[in-house]
Amino acid sequence: MLAKLSTLFAVLPLAAAWPQVMHMNEQMHKREEPPQRQPLFKSGRQNTGLPALGFNAQDQFVNVTRGSGHEFAPPGSGDLRGQCPGLNAAANHGFIPRNGLLNTAQTVSGLGAAYNMAPDLALFLAVVSIALAGDPVSGRWSIGGKFTPTIPLFKATGLVGTHNAYEGDASIIRGDAYLNGGSVGVFQMRSWEHLYQLAEEYTLDDIAAQSDYVTRWSILNNPYYFSAPFSGLVAPAAHNFVINFMSNHSAEKPGGTLTREVLKSFFAVTGDSPGNFVHNRGQERIPENWYRRPTANAMTVPQVLLDVQVNNAMYPGIVRIGGNTGTVNSFAGVDLTDLTGGVFNLGGLAEGNQAACFLLQASLAGLPDVVSPLLGAVGSVLGWATQQLGPLSRQFGCPQLANFDNSLFNGFPGAKFNGNGQS
Ligand code: HEM
Ligand SMILES: *[C@@H]1O[C@H](CO)[C@@H](O)[C@H](O)[C@H]1NC(C)=O
Ligand SMILES: *[C@@H]1O[C@H](CO)[C@@H](O)[C@H](O)[C@H]1NC(C)=O
Repeated sequence: MLAKLSTLFAVLPLAAAWPQVMHMNEQMHKREEPPQRQPLFKSGRQNTGLPALGFNAQDQFVNVTRGSGHEFAPPGSGDLRGQCPGLNAAANHGFIPRNGLLNTAQTVSGLGAAYNMAPDLALFLAVVSIALAGDPVSGRWSIGGKFTPTIPLFKATGLVGTHNAYEGDASIIRGDAYLNGGSVGVFQMRSWEHLYQLAEEYTLDDIAAQSDYVTRWSILNNPYYFSAPFSGLVAPAAHNFVINFMSNHSAEKPGGTLTREVLKSFFAVTGDSPGNFVHNRGQERIPENWYRRPTANAMTVPQVLLDVQVNNAMYPGIVRIGGNTGTVNSFAGVDLTDLTGGVFNLGGLAEGNQAACFLLQASLAGLPDVVSPLLGAVGSVLGWATQQLGPLSRQFGCPQLANFDNSLFNGFPGAKFNGNGQS
């Protein structure tokens, strides 16, 4: 419909005479739908990713009833909330502090209790949050906006201030910062409606289709579309988190089921069809009578990478490093071998823990190199994060730290676009 209208404007000779019509025409060009695309194959994966290892009602039941201490309460005026529905819901139920400010131990225990996120993954995600946008001295980070760090040297902007470092373009629902005046938290009804109509019960294969759709949509519409080595993996991974973490589990289906009702609860959406959906900001909610993934299937870092890799094999291009070069549909990729001085190459990522190692190193490559004596012997934020992630890096058998050649990103205007919330 929009495409047709813009074609119409293009053939109308009066368009050139009225600048506002030209402007409208351009606006419309900015909202082009990508053509349909079929996957190369379907994986048929269970919602746990790897096959579920049983069901234990008592262990998996997440008690959010009144008196459990985990009943729902909307955020109060001082509470921090951001663009991640999983974290907002965990905070709204007190699995992590309701004020949205937490340390690594609270991240590991809270997200384990609510979702069976494995300690390695929770620790990794928290360390990156602290290093990028938190306070390494007090060891805290914010799921939303800024907070007061121990010393002003650390920006402590919270997750909302991490555009292209942690948060990225082509998110499952949230709009691209550049297309939304710099905001990273805009609930995009178009994306929601696209996701909603993909199925009545969602699987990883459905979410792969969404991941492919939003990626191609952003390339087609956002001249500043950019996919950094780290945030470019986070957005595709976050797609899978919807299936991996929000599904409900049962004896009949230990791998889990994700219904529209449960999806809406976690995403704070009411309504039941396109045109009447409402996003209720900050109201993300764990449903009553909900069972998390099996403890034996706690979600680890390698599992995250595996699901992303399968999606990318189904729809090549879900994972990419590079961006548009200032106009829409101008994507140019950056070669992994060039970027990492030969330490990583695309083919090798499928082997062993190479992808997990790349993820770890990519996260470190994006850190501010802030130096402070308060950080003790490690000296800097980079040193702090490297030390924190050392055990994981050794556990995965990662190669020597690759030296990322970030100058390769100079030609991408999106790489320098900060978005709001960074100060
Ligand atoms: C320490 C743990 C976590 C951290 C640091 C974290 C961080 C983030 C960040 C930075 C984003 C923005 C990515 C983007 O631009 O698309 C994001 C998005 C997202 N996260 Fe989380 N997250 C965590 C845990 C979870 C959990 C447990 C779930 C699921 C229950 C989850 C589900 C999602 C989803 C679905 C999105 C996409 C939101 C949208 O586009 O509407 N996350 N998260
Ligand atoms: C959930 O918590 C409530 C309140 O503490 C308690 O009465 C109830 O027995 C719990 N339910 C289960 C299944 O443990
Ligand atoms: C989760 O599954 C169980 C078993 O099928 C069911 O009784 C319960 O209502 C489901 N919970 C939600 C929130 O759909």
